[in-house]
Amino acid sequence: MTETNTRRPLSTFRVTARGEDYRVVRVSGNLFICSRENGSCCCGWDEKGRMPFANELWSDEWERRRIRNRLHLTFTGCLGPCIAGNNALLQLHGRSIWFKDLNDPGLVSAVFDFAERMLDEGKVLPPPPELVDHVYERYGPPPAEEWFELVPSERDGDDGLARLDPVCLMDVDPATAKHTVEFQGRVFAFCAPSCKKQFMADPESYLQAIGG
Ligand code: FES
Repeated sequence: MTETNTRRPLSTFRVTARGEDYRVVRVSGNLFICSRENGSCCCGWDEKGRMPFANELWSDEWERRRIRNRLHLTFTGCLGPCIAGNNALLQLHGRSIWFKDLNDPGLVSAVFDFAERMLDEGKVLPPPPELVDHVYERYGPPPAEEWFELVPSERDGDDGLARLDPVCLMDVDPATAKHTVEFQGRVFAFCAPSCKKQFMADPESYLQAIGG
């Protein structure tokens, strides 16, 4: 997928939780997959006529594309419209895009291609031909021009990027982290050994994904 100059640089915002300050990466959206492993009642059930799938079918594709910094992936239980499953919900650029009848493994990459194209172009696009029959509008349209910031974003002049685990993007303080590595003159901190191992296997691509 080609990059365009509409791609937003990685940024974080500050949150206070349990009395401490943390950094959270601002993403453009979230893809929710209704999954049997996560408690669905129909999606992923072959005895109910749906394509069975392991969550890795989706998570491997998501990891391979290195888009965690722009799109989060979540596996859920029932999303509601079970009869139309397998179902997924993509929330992107403030819009909810519902997918139904995802009963072909090839549709997994089609959904990610569609999402990645919208991420790169910075706007919602019509679905490509291979997904037209799998997209529907479940929600009524939002009131026009009604988006507003629910609470003011907390800004303190520090972009917080130096504290991010470059693999999972969790806020990790390099001063106290147990798992660190020095690479290209910079110290990277990791939340767990597994993230460090993943980073060391392909550091350049992780740095590219976070704009480092
Ligand atoms: S079980 Fe997937 S939408 Fe209900």
